[in-house]
Amino acid sequence: MTKNKTLINFGAGPAALPQEVLSAAATAVINYNNTGLSILEIPHRGELFDAILEESNALVRELTGVGEDYEVIWLPGGGRLQFAMIPMNFLAPEATAGYIDSGHWANDALKNGSYYGAAITLSSTRDSNYTSLPLWPQNIPDDLSYLHFTTNNTIYGTQWSNIPAANVPLIADMSSDIFSRQRDYRSCALFYAVAQKNMGAAGVTLVVLRKEMLQQIQRSLPPMLDYAQHVQHNSVLNTPPVFAIYVSLLMLRWTKTKGILQIEKDNNEKSEMLYAEIDRNPMFYGIVVNKDHRSKMNVVFRCHEASKEQAFLNLCESNNIKGIAGHRSVGGFRASLYNTISVADVETLVSLMQDFEQNNK
Ligand SMILES: Cc1ncc(COP(=O)(O)O)c(C=O)c1O
Repeated sequence: MTKNKTLINFGAGPAALPQEVLSAAATAVINYNNTGLSILEIPHRGELFDAILEESNALVRELTGVGEDYEVIWLPGGGRLQFAMIPMNFLAPEATAGYIDSGHWANDALKNGSYYGAAITLSSTRDSNYTSLPLWPQNIPDDLSYLHFTTNNTIYGTQWSNIPAANVPLIADMSSDIFSRQRDYRSCALFYAVAQKNMGAAGVTLVVLRKEMLQQIQRSLPPMLDYAQHVQHNSVLNTPPVFAIYVSLLMLRWTKTKGILQIEKDNNEKSEMLYAEIDRNPMFYGIVVNKDHRSKMNVVFRCHEASKEQAFLNLCESNNIKGIAGHRSVGGFRASLYNTISVADVETLVSLMQDFEQNNK
């Protein structure tokens, strides 16, 4: 059973998954590892799921290079629950946390912080509609409980090319670019990523945190909102999304087999090809994002003449290219080039853009 091979899904998430991952997931729904049980039926306590968690956690450690001084947990509630859990756990009422406000999700994280303590904006590009990354703050106050930032801004199409230095615990939302390039994950005290972009199906969020962060939890919290409880119960405090975690395991295996080096090489090639095509003809296509801050994951662009955009969307639709419309707050187009998208997929898009240009000059 294969999905439509000619269809290319450039959606920002839930995003395209490799055919082999989809096939393995489909098989597991019918009969998981020849157990006669569906993956949807296996108990979340017991050796079958223990083995899934153990292998997933080991692959996360291997792919990110974090050691035994970090904990790996899988949580429900999406990125938005992390926006709330981070201050709930690490920001005491009289304390202050810093946020870099680089886009919609970064701003949402910031707003959540202020429910629990003082959440301050250290740097923001909100006034320029997030078309560039904010400056990294030069003097980060030493007494901040943590500094939160978003490595890739999914909606606006900007990305930090590396993880900047911080003199306080650094917390990173890596939801839309985890495993997309080599990166020093160890410079973060905590990083997290929703699964539905580079890592699997919606329903689960990967959280990796330095063990010593658990000492910083001062509030008395209900267990489901307390990182220490999830660590203590090895991600099975409640009945976890077993299937979503299994799909993440399939994606982690795929990521390891392809290798982060090759993934990064392809991501560079894909994004360079698409940006080059857009830049080649500034009278037809355009980009508002600062050139130095362009994302390699979400390429946000538009037609120079906005009136032509719907025609291009229609052309994409009739050529089986999906998910290309820009976020409703930005408009235009957004091609999400997550790890599953191949160089050939981007070549197909570029050639369609060229046809459209020829026929609509
Ligand atoms: C960078 C980033 N963080 C957080 C989120 C929110 O994730 P969720 O919808 O799972 O809460 C998204 C969603 O696209 C995102 O792109």
